Amino acid sequence: MPISVQQHQFHLQTDHTSYLFHVMENGELGQLYYGQRIHDQANYPDLTAREEHGAIPAWRLDRPDFQPETLKQEFAGLGKGDYRDPAFQVTSPDGSRISEFRYQDYQITDGKQRLNGLPSAFATGDDVQTLTVTLRDVVAELTLALQYTVFPHQDVIVRSARFTNAGEQTLLLDRAMSSQLDLPDANYELLQFSGSWARERHLVRSPLHSGSQSIGSLRGASSHQQNPAMILARPTTDENHGAAFGFNLIYSGNFLDQVEVDAFDTARILIGINPEEFGWQLTPGETFQTPEAVLSYTTTGLNQLSQQMGDFYQHHLVNPHFAQTPRPVLINNWEGTYFNFDEAKLTAIASDAKDLGIEMFVLDDGWFGHRDDDTTSLGDWDVYAQKLPNGIAHLADKIHGMALKFGLWFEPEMISIDSDLYRAHPEWTVKTPHREMTPGRNQFVIDMANPEVIDYLYDKISRLIADAHLDYIKWDMNRNITEAYSPTLPADQQLEFAHRYMLGVYQLYGRLTTAYPDVLFESCASGGGRFDLGMMAYAPQAWTSDDTDAVERLKIQFGTSYGYPQTMMGAHVSAVPNDQTGRITPIETRAAVAYFGDLGYELDVTQCSAAEKAAIKEQVAFYKAHRELFQQGKFYRLDSPFTGDGNVGSWQVVSADGKHAIAARYQVLNHPNPAYNRLYLRGLQPDQRYQIAGNDHVYYGDELMNAGVFIPHLQDSTEGIEESFDFSARLLVIDAVEK
Ligand code: GLA
Repeated sequence: MPISVQQHQFHLQTDHTSYLFHVMENGELGQLYYGQRIHDQANYPDLTAREEHGAIPAWRLDRPDFQPETLKQEFAGLGKGDYRDPAFQVTSPDGSRISEFRYQDYQITDGKQRLNGLPSAFATGDDVQTLTVTLRDVVAELTLALQYTVFPHQDVIVRSARFTNAGEQTLLLDRAMSSQLDLPDANYELLQFSGSWARERHLVRSPLHSGSQSIGSLRGASSHQQNPAMILARPTTDENHGAAFGFNLIYSGNFLDQVEVDAFDTARILIGINPEEFGWQLTPGETFQTPEAVLSYTTTGLNQLSQQMGDFYQHHLVNPHFAQTPRPVLINNWEGTYFNFDEAKLTAIASDAKDLGIEMFVLDDGWFGHRDDDTTSLGDWDVYAQKLPNGIAHLADKIHGMALKFGLWFEPEMISIDSDLYRAHPEWTVKTPHREMTPGRNQFVIDMANPEVIDYLYDKISRLIADAHLDYIKWDMNRNITEAYSPTLPADQQLEFAHRYMLGVYQLYGRLTTAYPDVLFESCASGGGRFDLGMMAYAPQAWTSDDTDAVERLKIQFGTSYGYPQTMMGAHVSAVPNDQTGRITPIETRAAVAYFGDLGYELDVTQCSAAEKAAIKEQVAFYKAHRELFQQGKFYRLDSPFTGDGNVGSWQVVSADGKHAIAARYQVLNHPNPAYNRLYLRGLQPDQRYQIAGNDHVYYGDELMNAGVFIPHLQDSTEGIEESFDFSARLLVIDAVEK
């Protein structure tokens, strides 16, 4: 079984990893090991061996080597001699801030229950087991339940903490992280995914050093700037070899991922809600549940780490109704028309799109209130009658009549000053009394911590789903929170706002996805500003970035692939010159990048030339023929656009049986007399024979993976490629053959 307990020692085992902790002499929990699987033993004296260090407080006079600062702890507090950043902090009514959580008991259950009110992993039976270890601080009468679920086949462990006030006094939770991991050495590199609007999740890799390195957000959303996904890899680890830990958080709000390297070169990893701007009043009997952290480990490289974590999300986090379901090829009118459309324009786009094989039409921003630009109407989720006099349901009927699915854009969490909603409920706007409100994109945030707001939005959105038979909703969120405050909360609970806001968002998502299980949600936050596991639990796909330029997308999608499977990535072909960069790339290249995600088009097809339409038709047919491979195949990063001058990038998808694969190699600029180039494929069967489309030669899998495929320099004028050889893409379609 994945969890074994011996004499107060807990051994969580996945197929390839072991996670070990125990009850220490003082009744608190100590960490022993996390890494490649080791044999189960009754005890591990070597892992508990300690030595005495000078000038450091010790807990017990009879055990001078029991020095908290040098201990590997499982979930540490502050104030008793461990000076590293703690996993939690509690203030008692008398102002004291010491907690001592002593072991009480444990429970093991099969499967895993979902958390109440928070997005969370799930599992029924199988080999999945959950361990709950209960600890208690007798002075504060506070109970701490540490929960661990072991997903053996994906080498994943999910952790969270639950605090319950079992006493009669109100306590204040100042910090409540989801996971702490104390590693015995710090010889790792930190891989983080950083950027900005239109430049999300670029890989940054840097060695750990003494002190703290952290990534996080205080924006009220996980953010464009930093992503909760984080990897610690040995310096020699690359895509296909070496050890790495993967971490992520099933949460979409303020977060903190921190690695602290101490004087003894050990590394403490903390993951959870950002303690800044957080505080929670625990009244007697009340419970606080942290979001879940996801931990994974491999010894075989970063591709394997991404694949096993991605596989875990697909099976244990994404709504099972959509996880394996083919995602429709869509057309979205945003970059095609922006706010400037009417019914005739939209139906003309839809009709041409249908002819090209596209399967869903999505009406983006501008269909409600009196919205002609971004200054008005957010909150007024009723049709803009001057623009669409026949209403949304009528338009939806027309689209459905063309045998296309119909999707609609909302930005539920926002309010415009110029809106009926603001005029009726100014108090629903997030603002601090007596302070000016800071606008962002001419709009303000609505108070999702207010249950009335959730009811209002549920009512509005569900009415449209029912009237227009929506198949899809794009849920956008285009600015971050300022002047955080809710009039629904008393003064001494205002630090709860950021988390209560997220709970409100999750509640609305939960109610809508439960009531309308067939509606596919795509999350969005000015592109990828809330691209995280919390969103993934409700919205199986996400708009990866507002940047649709193929060259920019190469880095964005490559970086995103470290933490998220390609089925989560909405990827669209848009018009050129590109609206974000002004770059003109061939339509083949734009498609070749967008294929490796959930393909869509975001342009006015009615304006496309006959040649462009022919190209799109061919692309859509090609994508549909290989849709399962593109959306669900194992994703391998081959050549990183984050190395060297970033001129080349390549990646590949492979079917579960290893018999079908598609690889793509992208070259930004064409240089004369370039280096000799081979592309080394991955994930094929060594003894299987394969053919590459357009090439008669038969290769063994071992040749394709070890000797690679020659990639000739683009120099002759080639039909189908525009004048320039810059911004080129080559696709290799590889299929097993039985000859
Ligand atoms: C955000 C989204 C875009 C589009 C616009 C509409 O920027 O990321 O895709 O929906 O809002 O205003």
